[in-house]
Amino acid sequence: MYQLNEYAQREELDLALANKVAEILTNSVALKGRASIAVSGGSTPKGFFKALSQKDLPWSEITVTLADERWVGIESDASNTRLVHENLLQNKAVNAKFFHLKQGEELTADTLDDLNLAAASSLLPLDVLILGMGEDGHTASLFPCSDEIDQALSATAKPLLKVVPKTAPHDRITFSFAHLKTSKNVFLHISGASKQTVLKQALKESNIREMPIRAFLNDPEINTNVYWAE
Ligand code: 6PG
Repeated sequence: MYQLNEYAQREELDLALANKVAEILTNSVALKGRASIAVSGGSTPKGFFKALSQKDLPWSEITVTLADERWVGIESDASNTRLVHENLLQNKAVNAKFFHLKQGEELTADTLDDLNLAAASSLLPLDVLILGMGEDGHTASLFPCSDEIDQALSATAKPLLKVVPKTAPHDRITFSFAHLKTSKNVFLHISGASKQTVLKQALKESNIREMPIRAFLNDPEINTNVYWAE
């Protein structure tokens, strides 16, 4: 299921989302002594990252990671890790911990095993998940065009897997739907008229394999908070 929050301006959305996420992270640290958040890359979240980085939070108890990463070096413009370091892990958030998905040169089975072990023991379930959405209805790196889509959507998937999209650049590492789904608070951050059209299309039908974002919008066990601004 989902809830739609609409904003007239992107800046207004960024602040509202940063306030909401800051409140959840503060409460999680107060309750458990630590908190975790997975964010998405792409062009949408920069303003939100900047707004969240200004928040006075117990950042040293908070672990930040990515819902998915492109398998590129941190010096690349396409690196989500770089985007997060340059925009979120700044200001008051410099002391946050970061769980790296891109480790080493090659994404081998051993690398995945190590990451899966570390994620399961120290990171999951996430307190906060911020998703983005592509024009094809992908979210995280759950790409409808990839050979791995059934595996990525399967209930028995491991936390992390490799995905090779056919219509987007770069090999990816992504959290699987089964493990993203366990997040305690799920947000979908989108902006612009074309994303609104994609959202409407996603809500019209139910085939998850065709538009993986539907897995989050339709599942009765998930309350996806959609934040949209023109
Ligand atoms: C990535 C993402 C991906 C992204 C959407 C939306 O690394 O590509 O995590 O899922 O959130 O593609 O991207 P835009 O914000 O650029 O539209």
